[in-house]
Amino acid sequence: MTFLVPRMLVVCVFSVTGLAWFAHGMVFNPAPCPCSNHTLCDPIRTTAKKEVVAFSGSGADWRHYFWDNITAVIVGDGFDPQMMCHAHSKGVRIVMRGACSLETLFNESARTAWAEQTVQSAVGNFTDGFNIDFEQPLQKSQAHYLTDMVRQIKDAFKKALPYAQVTLDSPYSAECTFGRCYDYRAIGEIVDYIMIMAYDELVVDGRAMANAPLNKTTKGVDDFIKADVPSSKLVLIVPWYGYDFPCSMLTESDVCLYKLSTQRQSAFGDIMKLLDNNSTTGRKWSEADQSPYFDYKDTETGQTHQVWYDNATSLALRFEMAKEKQLHGVSVFQADCLDYSTHQKAVNETNEMWDAFIGEWLF
Ligand SMILES: *[C@@H]1O[C@H](CO)[C@@H](O)[C@H](O)[C@H]1NC(C)=O
Ligand SMILES: *[C@@H]1O[C@H](CO)[C@@H](O)[C@H](O)[C@H]1NC(C)=O
Ligand SMILES: *[C@@H]1O[C@H](CO)[C@@H](O)[C@H](O)[C@H]1NC(C)=O
Ligand SMILES: *[C@@H]1O[C@H](CO)[C@@H](O)[C@H](O)[C@H]1NC(C)=O
Ligand SMILES: *[C@@H]1O[C@H](CO)[C@@H](O)[C@H](O)[C@H]1NC(C)=O
Ligand SMILES: *[C@@H]1O[C@H](CO)[C@@H](O)[C@H](O)[C@H]1NC(C)=O
Ligand SMILES: *[C@@H]1O[C@H](CO)[C@@H](O)[C@H](O)[C@H]1NC(C)=O
Ligand SMILES: *[C@@H]1O[C@H](CO)[C@@H](O)[C@H](O)[C@H]1NC(C)=O
Ligand SMILES: *[C@@H]1O[C@H](CO)[C@@H](O)[C@H](O)[C@H]1NC(C)=O
Repeated sequence: MTFLVPRMLVVCVFSVTGLAWFAHGMVFNPAPCPCSNHTLCDPIRTTAKKEVVAFSGSGADWRHYFWDNITAVIVGDGFDPQMMCHAHSKGVRIVMRGACSLETLFNESARTAWAEQTVQSAVGNFTDGFNIDFEQPLQKSQAHYLTDMVRQIKDAFKKALPYAQVTLDSPYSAECTFGRCYDYRAIGEIVDYIMIMAYDELVVDGRAMANAPLNKTTKGVDDFIKADVPSSKLVLIVPWYGYDFPCSMLTESDVCLYKLSTQRQSAFGDIMKLLDNNSTTGRKWSEADQSPYFDYKDTETGQTHQVWYDNATSLALRFEMAKEKQLHGVSVFQADCLDYSTHQKAVNETNEMWDAFIGEWLF
């Protein structure tokens, strides 16, 4: 299974075939509807009070999602059109994700063409919105370009698909985290909501640590509220993956020192197998981070590794925090990281992860 931190650049296409099909505010969709029942190609028009959003990979795992309890699924290129039919039969939005390049961001005519192309793709795929996954560093003085792009996309969607949702992915904090000095206050006024990627919060000091320490994650959310983004415009995305650190040294107090960039992301389902078959410490829990971890020895190399991850218990704490702060919703990156096989233990763990996710967010 392959997956990445959300980062997907849609190639910006400059040739636009025209938007004549927006005439009279009606969307004439030239693409054939892939659903056996054609009404399922209609966009979702209802709005949930709270959002429960799953990011999706590719493949067939989507058939196992808890469709009765989510509001939207964010998809990348090449998603299964049958997923859209199924989602719509459950009243769930399908939202495409992508972004333009930096070069396009700075070029207004290129940006306009890209925005039009993006809307056409969304319409052509019978989807219900767009998740802007830009993830590029910008200086404060350049932030207005992104704000303009977000406004352009939002306006273009409003015209073609009035019920569409437009959202932006942000790092875990609103400070210039990862060099992304975006104008969150202005963007918050335009988008339906900002999705906080509450993970990859590693400090690069060579010590293995949690993907999303609770205190740091909480401070990150507070930073957005301080930056004048109302909590009702924030959705918290938590990780269904962890980090595997090869330890160059393990201290007596079980601190794993590793060489920067040698850590690997690992899916929850794979981590559970390592925990069962390979762990040398059994389950451990960090009080400081409110996250689980364990050590194991690689059978091939003999090297000790430390794995930090989140399970249903640690994630429930993050969802509770989101609820206490009255955020607009919660999300997971990503739904295909679980083991959807029929082994009873995997079934139990997968159900626990979904239950923790949807349980707090009845809508
Ligand atoms: C098609 O789907 C719509 C919406 O889910 C439903 O109301 C309708 O009964 C379905 N029609 C058929 C023929 O199944
Ligand atoms: C901006 O993009 C357009 C295509 O939309 C291109 O023709 C033009 O050369 C670009 N301008 C610059 C300065 O790169
Ligand atoms: C569906 O989306 C893909 C990916 O963005 C795009 O390449 C394709 O052209 C879209 N289909 C239609 C019919 O617009
Ligand atoms: C979170 O807790 C850790 C360990 O106690 C501490 O080092 C760190 O500074 C705290 N971070 C924040 C943002 O409070
Ligand atoms: C490890 O444990 C799981 C059960 O969690 C099992 O299904 C799997 O086959 C075991 N072996 C390996 C090599 O992962
Ligand atoms: C999560 O991990 C902690 C520590 O390893 C453990 O105590 C807890 O039971 C785990 N939660 C679940 C649901 O397995
Ligand atoms: C985990 O243990 C299994 C045997 O139970 C072994 O086949 C596998 O290679 C081990 N995995 C790693 C990463 O060492
Ligand atoms: C799965 O959960 C059921 C019900 O909670 C429990 O009875 C069973 O022992 C669990 N099975 C495994 C393999 O953990
Ligand atoms: C999930 O949806 C099902 C079907 O509507 C419902 O019975 C169940 O209570 C929901 N669970 C939660 C936790 O919302």
